[in-house]
Amino acid sequence: MQVSRENEIPHLKFKDVSFSYPGEKENLIFKCNFSIEKPGFWMVLGKNGSGKSTLLKLINGIIFPKNGVIDSNANIGMVFQNPDHQILMPNCRSELLININQNISQNEINKKLNMCLIRWE
Ligand SMILES: Nc1ncnc2c1ncn2[C@@H]1O[C@H](COP(=O)(O)OP(=O)(O)O)[C@@H](O)[C@H]1O
Ligand SMILES: [Mg+2]
Repeated sequence: MQVSRENEIPHLKFKDVSFSYPGEKENLIFKCNFSIEKPGFWMVLGKNGSGKSTLLKLINGIIFPKNGVIDSNANIGMVFQNPDHQILMPNCRSELLININQNISQNEINKKLNMCLIRWE
């Protein structure tokens, strides 16, 4: 049985996480440990090529650790560095629409879109 974690405070925990890209012998990320126990505004700093984007892809589940455990109940989105790698549609509304569950009523769809867009208008 899957336990619902919907009402928990979002958290993120890395325990001894290591990662290397295929074909690479050296770990790019080696035994990384940290935890974020409540929502906030966090930054990852590091020089070019140090592994910041890789770390974010691990957090998002786009790639998986070679070793270690990532524990998170957070619903995390990611904006890629180059918009052309992410944005497909000509405007925000149509971009959101392609990611929305289409099995709900048009009214519900509009409500959800408006809720997301109102923050940016
Ligand atoms: N898909 C990939 N395959 C192989 N190597 C990669 C890939 N993506 C990034 N790298 C390498 O991993 C290292 C870290 O990259 P990245 O996480 O993008 O760093 P940052 O975001 O800090 O600039 C770099 O040496 C980069 O060339
Ligand atoms: Mg980067």
